[in-house]
Amino acid sequence: MEKSENVLSVASECAPLVKTGGLADVVGALPGELAGEGWRLRTLLPAYQGLVKRLKSAKVVWSVNKLMGGPARVVAGKTLKKDGSLDLLLLDAPHLFDRPGAIYLNSKGDDWADNPQRYAALSWVAAEIARTGLSDGWRPRILQAHDWQAGLAPAYLKYAGTDDVASLITIHNIAFQGLARASLLKRLRLPATQFVKDGFEYWGKISTLKAGLMTADAITTVSPTYAQELLDPEFGMGLDGVIQYRRDKLYGILNGVDLKAWNPKTDRDILFPYGPRNLAAKAKNTRALEDEFGLTPGDGPVFAIVSRLTHQKGLDLVLDGLPALLGRGGRLIILGSGDAELEAAFTKAAKTNRGRVAVHIGYDEAQSHRIYAGADVMVVPSRFEPCGLTQMYALRYGTLPLVSRTGGLADTVIDANEAAIRSGVATGVVVAPDSLDGLVRGIERMCDLFADRTLWQNLQKRAMAQPVGWGPSATSYSTLFKSLLK
Ligand code: ADP
Ligand code: GLC
Repeated sequence: MEKSENVLSVASECAPLVKTGGLADVVGALPGELAGEGWRLRTLLPAYQGLVKRLKSAKVVWSVNKLMGGPARVVAGKTLKKDGSLDLLLLDAPHLFDRPGAIYLNSKGDDWADNPQRYAALSWVAAEIARTGLSDGWRPRILQAHDWQAGLAPAYLKYAGTDDVASLITIHNIAFQGLARASLLKRLRLPATQFVKDGFEYWGKISTLKAGLMTADAITTVSPTYAQELLDPEFGMGLDGVIQYRRDKLYGILNGVDLKAWNPKTDRDILFPYGPRNLAAKAKNTRALEDEFGLTPGDGPVFAIVSRLTHQKGLDLVLDGLPALLGRGGRLIILGSGDAELEAAFTKAAKTNRGRVAVHIGYDEAQSHRIYAGADVMVVPSRFEPCGLTQMYALRYGTLPLVSRTGGLADTVIDANEAAIRSGVATGVVVAPDSLDGLVRGIERMCDLFADRTLWQNLQKRAMAQPVGWGPSATSYSTLFKSLLK
C-alpha cells in the first residue's frame, strides 16, 4: 500500500498493560506486526485504574457528558518503550473503570454486576470514533472488535447506518458470549427491533458476541482448526448456527508469538539466556527453577503448567494422571489461578507430594518466563483451545509441548510419532482431548522420549526452529483488511 490506512482495534485487554490471558498478548502484538504491512492501528482500551498515568504526551481527543451513567473522555497517547510503544486510546470513564483489583471481577471474585454497561460503553465509543473520528483528525477505515467485550461495536456501527467504515470481529473464545438481561436493552442503547433470533437475541437474553457476529463485515478466529470446529455444536457452544449462517465470511488466522518479548536469548526475566546451540544453559534454568519451587532434583522431566485454572484447560485430567506422572519420575510445577476447586486440588497435591509437585496460585508474568525456560515439558491438555499461546512460547524455549488435538494446539504442534521423528519434523506430543487414558499415554511417551537424550535434544532444536512468529498471519490479516476497505 502506498500510504498507511487506519484501523481501530477495540479490546478489553492489551499486553503488557492489562492482561488476564492470551487475548492481551494478541491485541498488544497486532499493531506492531501490522505496521509493517502498511496499517496504522490505534487500540481503544478501558482506562482501568492507573492506566492514564502510563501514557506519554496524553491528550484528550473525544469527550461526552453522559455515557452509561457518567462523563467520559478518550485520552490518546503512546506507552513507554518498556510497555511496547503502543498507540493507545484510553476510554476514561471513572464510574465504569476506575476500580481496584481484577478488571472483570469484584473483590468477592464475581463478575462486576455492570459488566454489560462497562463493555457496551467501550463498544459505543468505538463505533462513535469510527463514525465521526477524533478531534486530532484521525478516523479509521476499519474497526476490529475483539471478543464479546467489543461485540457491540460492529452492531452500533451498523445500526447507525455507517457504511464507509468496515468492521470485523475476532473470536478469541466463543465460550464467553457477553450475555445480558433483556431488561438492559434501552440502557445499552440497543434497538428493540434487533432483539430477535436474526439479531442479538439469544435464548431470551442479549448476547453482545452474537450482535457482533451478525453485523460485522467479516469474522476471524485465531486458528484454522478452531474456525472449522466452530461450525460444530460441540465447539460452537450454541452459536454454531450463527457461525454456519455467516461461514462465507469466516476466516481462521493463526496467532503468532511476539518474537522480541519471547526470546530465550535475550529474555531479561530468565537467569541463564540460551539458544538452540547451548542447551546446557537451559539445563541451568531447570536447576534454578527446581530451587525456586523446592523440587527435589531427579532424572525424570519437569512438567509445567502456566494457565488459567478452568474447565476449558482440562487440568483436572492432570490431577487424575498425577500418579502416572510421578510414577515415571516426573515432577510437576503449576503457576495459575482460577476455579477455587482446582486451586484447592493442586494445592493439596503439592502438600502430599512435597519436592515433586509445586504450586504457585497466582499470576506472575516474570515467573512464567522462568518456567517456560526451565521446564522440560509444557502440559496443555485443553478440552478446546481456540489458539493457545503457551504451547508456542514453550516451543520457542525448547520446552516440548504435550497438548491435546484441538484448535490451535493441533495447528502448532507436530506429534513425535515414528514417521514425524524419522522425517525430522516432530516438536511435541499430541493426545486425544478430554481423555485420561490419552493423557497418561502422552505423559509416558514424553518420559520415553526424554530418556533418549540425543533424540530429546533434536526435538528441542526442532521446536525452537518452528516459525511461530506473526509473519504469514500478519499477511493474512493484511489481505483480509484490504478486501474489506470500503
Ligand atoms: P488463554 O488466553 O485461554 O488463557 P493462551 O494460551 O492463549 O490461553 O494465553 C495464556 C497467556 O496467559 C499466556 O501468555 C500465559 O503465559 C499467560 N498466563 C496464564 N496464566 C498465567 C499466570 N498464572 N501467570 C502468568 N502468566 C499466565
Ligand atoms: C483466548 C483463547 C486462547 C487464545 C487467546 C488469544 O483466550 O482461549 O486459545 O490463544 O484467546 O487469541
